[in-house]
Amino acid sequence: MSNYVLPEVSDSELLGLEAKIQEAQKRRSLDGLKVYGFGEVSIALGWPIDQPRFVAKRMIPMPKAASLEGPLQAIDHFADEILAAGGKILPYQTRLVQRPDGPYVGYLVQPIVPADELAETVLKTDQPTPSHPLLIAVRDFVMSCATKDTALDAQIPNFAWVDGELWLLDISSPAGFDADDNLIYPNMPLANKLVPFPLRPALAKASADVLSLYRGRHNALTQVVVFLHRIKADAWVEPAIETFNEVLHKPIELNVVNERWQQNTKDFPKIKKLLQLQRGWQETVRRKPYEYLITDSFTGEVI
Ligand SMILES: Nc1ncnc2c1ncn2[C@@H]1O[C@H](COP(=O)(O)OP(=O)(O)OP(=O)(O)O)[C@@H](O)[C@H]1O
Ligand SMILES: [Mg+2]
Repeated sequence: MSNYVLPEVSDSELLGLEAKIQEAQKRRSLDGLKVYGFGEVSIALGWPIDQPRFVAKRMIPMPKAASLEGPLQAIDHFADEILAAGGKILPYQTRLVQRPDGPYVGYLVQPIVPADELAETVLKTDQPTPSHPLLIAVRDFVMSCATKDTALDAQIPNFAWVDGELWLLDISSPAGFDADDNLIYPNMPLANKLVPFPLRPALAKASADVLSLYRGRHNALTQVVVFLHRIKADAWVEPAIETFNEVLHKPIELNVVNERWQQNTKDFPKIKKLLQLQRGWQETVRRKPYEYLITDSFTGEVI
């Protein structure tokens, strides 16, 4: 059993971190921040810097508190559904704070998972084998927690792994589809802040396309395999396919995994270019700070 406990986190601590993030955005540098990990969307930051007590993941600031209520409630709702389906989630809290300059910022706070308890670490230390307990646990997690309409991101770096138990730590971007196949993505209005206005419909379409790759159990498990490449765990690809295929009617195919990975390596740089474009325009033409750290999730650099 893990003993993850979320420490008390005050609003003033979150505002202290927020000020550092604002500086980092301005300087385009992570100096002065304690980074635990990069995803494609968010950064896991430790606070306080010298002796971190918790991890915080920040949402895009918004002028009105109401704009953040939907996305924050969606996280709580998603977490409740995972728990109801028998999955484990790292203890967490959703928080909303107002900055002295006006905008509201949403945060997800969590305990710090030590590196040796990250599921990702297991792939580096253990021999790749089919039916490895971690692969079976991820498979069970997806089979019980994903539905045909959820877009569950169950890639290995999204979990902690302690004493044979799997804990989901990535809960900040819940997504799914309704009965008419429309995307339900509560973070969309926040993401929209990051791209030029005329490109927002294109962003919505691209988001729906990307998230449809995670829709349902078969897709969710396929993406787990695809993203093994992202963490250079290529040797785990075939054992994972074998393990996952035991429970799937339609098997995951290696060539589909390879195609999706190739596509992914092209798509993400395109999205990042779009963000950089908007940052340049916002900072130089509108003279407004860009409220996001654009990072290369592979190298961890601010770009
Ligand atoms: N509580 C934590 N303790 C230690 N490391 C963490 C923690 N949360 C996240 N990390 C590290 O940071 C990485 C990115 O975090 P996370 O997966 O939540 O972001 P993300 O993939 O961008 O999320 P999302 O797609 O929901 O925005 C994780 O894969 C993990 O390595
Ligand atoms: Mg993640």
